[in-house]
Amino acid sequence: MTVSSTGTLFGLGVGPGDPELITMKALRLLRAVPVIAYPAPEQGDSLARTIVASHLPGGQAEIAMRMPMVASRFPAQEVYDRAAEEIGDHLAAGRDVAVLCEGDPFFYGSFMYLFERMAADFSVEVVPGVSSLTACAAALEAPLAARNDVLTVVPATLPADDIAVRLNTADAVALIKVGRHFGKVRSILDSLGLTAYARYVQHATMASQIVLPLDAVTPEEVPYFSMILVHRRGQAWR
Ligand SMILES: C[S@@+](CC[C@H](N)C(=O)[O-])C[C@H]1O[C@@H](n2cnc3c(N)ncnc32)[C@H](O)[C@@H]1O
Repeated sequence: MTVSSTGTLFGLGVGPGDPELITMKALRLLRAVPVIAYPAPEQGDSLARTIVASHLPGGQAEIAMRMPMVASRFPAQEVYDRAAEEIGDHLAAGRDVAVLCEGDPFFYGSFMYLFERMAADFSVEVVPGVSSLTACAAALEAPLAARNDVLTVVPATLPADDIAVRLNTADAVALIKVGRHFGKVRSILDSLGLTAYARYVQHATMASQIVLPLDAVTPEEVPYFSMILVHRRGQAWR
């Protein structure tokens, strides 16, 4: 019998921002692992680490995967290559590593870039988290989708025509990655007569959470962590 002495890589969903919106399983693992890793901007704090900061026991090794802030559609693959190597060294030495993932690891999460590099060679476990979709619906105090509704998730980074097609064929739409694409999305919603059925949420469940009708949003100030929820048959907000 071969006994594996390598560590396990955990993709740990840490929820959308409120430190209390972490699962008991993620909390247990977060406190138990000797190594944590997390995506971070080139400079400054990692959102995922900030979310769990009050839960950290101290004394853990930390790997910050710092992403260059380029306007490219693709993440910096070399950063993941390097991180996979560093994480792999810990795993090979028998140390478990938890990668902190904002929201849920497999809902548009960058954890997939490590998963595809490491799953063939190491034990990997994904711990699901509360995603921004449900967090935003809760912030809006309105159902995300109900009964036979078709729910569609649309990255606002798509071309305008593609977004319009999706908006026309779904009952409920979550537009994610809004940020600097707010103006484009707003024009499409206006042209389809859907603006009254759309609402904007920024930093859902964080202390900085803001919920607004689209008319009240300043396009230049829309951050990356924002979402627009549209419900064709829902309540008109104005
Ligand atoms: C790359 S996706 C990651 C989603 C994340 N894995 C999840 O489960 O929610 C990033 C997008 O999710 C949305 N998002 C994530 N957290 C959010 C929050 N707290 N409030 C509003 N939108 C959020 C934004 O649209 C953001 O551009």
